[in-house]
Amino acid sequence: MAMTAAGRRGLAWCKEWNRQHPWDHNAHHHAWIERQLPSRFGTALDVGCGSGDLARRLSRRASHVTGLDTDPASIGTAQHLSTHESNLDFRCEDLITADLLGGYDVITALAVLHHVPFEPALRRLRDLLSPGGRLLVLGVYRERTASDHLLSAMAVPANLVMGMVKTRQRGSAQRPVAMSAPTAPATMTLREIRDVARRRTPGAVVRRHLFWRYSLRYTAPA
Ligand SMILES: C[S@@+](CC[C@H](N)C(=O)[O-])C[C@H]1O[C@@H](n2cnc3c(N)ncnc32)[C@H](O)[C@@H]1O
Repeated sequence: MAMTAAGRRGLAWCKEWNRQHPWDHNAHHHAWIERQLPSRFGTALDVGCGSGDLARRLSRRASHVTGLDTDPASIGTAQHLSTHESNLDFRCEDLITADLLGGYDVITALAVLHHVPFEPALRRLRDLLSPGGRLLVLGVYRERTASDHLLSAMAVPANLVMGMVKTRQRGSAQRPVAMSAPTAPATMTLREIRDVARRRTPGAVVRRHLFWRYSLRYTAPA
């Protein structure tokens, strides 16, 4: 459908506002991630860890956390920002092929599974869990349905307000360091994601969140 001149102006204004008020939509969900986890746990793996913000948060509750990312610059930043944490290590490796022992009590994957073939990745992460271990995925999906587009439209004004609030809280309009990690466009619709989850992680709860994200929560059989 063709956009009107007023629509184009509105979109350009929003883009400029967002550029001047950047905020990290993935980090916004860290508190949600933490609420899905026990207060203490053993080993954790954060795949596609970027600058390591979530891995550092998890390390306060875990005996050990490994952060994995294919981007050498992100791993360098993560290591640089984590010199005070002794129960944390970062590895520059691919989540599909990395040589990992498995048996993780917690695995997190934030905004990374659309960078890789989804089904093999989900199967791999599932298989790396300890019995009773928890997998938490936060991802982006390709909008297709009317409800996708409606929620997306509702998120736009909320996104502008959040940008202003978070920029004020940080006291800076600079992009957060975590936002320098490589990105990729979403490839799968929410329905396709749900279908794979039903097959590979039966019992997983897949939920849509406001800011263009979904979450998948899976607990391995004990
Ligand atoms: C959008 S960023 C998200 C980073 C971080 N999870 C966050 O929430 O800020 C996606 C990250 O996944 C990493 N990545 C892409 N493909 C990967 C793979 N096959 N294995 C591990 N990491 C990968 C990228 O290098 C990038 O740092």
